[in-house]
Amino acid sequence: MINLITGGAGFIGSYLAEYLLDQGQEVIVLDDLSTGSFDNIAHLVGRKGFTYYGRETQQAGAGRVELIPHVVHQFMADGPIAVYGSGD
Ligand SMILES: NC(=O)c1ccc[n+]([C@@H]2O[C@H](COP(=O)([O-])OP(=O)(O)OC[C@H]3O[C@@H](n4cnc5c(N)ncnc54)[C@H](O)[C@@H]3O)[C@@H](O)[C@H]2O)c1
Repeated sequence: MINLITGGAGFIGSYLAEYLLDQGQEVIVLDDLSTGSFDNIAHLVGRKGFTYYGRETQQAGAGRVELIPHVVHQFMADGPIAVYGSGD
């Protein structure tokens, strides 16, 4: 299962990220660190199945990153996010 966690470097999202990795699932964290902290996810970097996209990705953005999650967990308090499944 591939999980996208917006706000995954925040208080709640980071705990969920760790839990899902412990379950053997893949986790993609999208977080601009506006209120969260990289410290919350530093221990997850390098773990199998973990990917982090920060502010640079969002600004550089490409506006669009090829993310094809099965589940989206939204914990960022603001900001729109568009998620396109394969084939959309
Ligand atoms: N912590 C609680 O007890 C609690 C209780 C009820 C509801 N909530 C709600 O749950 C959500 C998460 O709470 P939390 O305590 O984990 O907050 P948090 O501030 O620790 O986490 C939110 C994360 O979202 C990120 N973020 C914000 N805007 C973003 C954007 N545009 N793009 C990318 N990342 C962005 C922040 O950097 C932060 O890491 C919030 O909406 C909060 O209001 C929290």
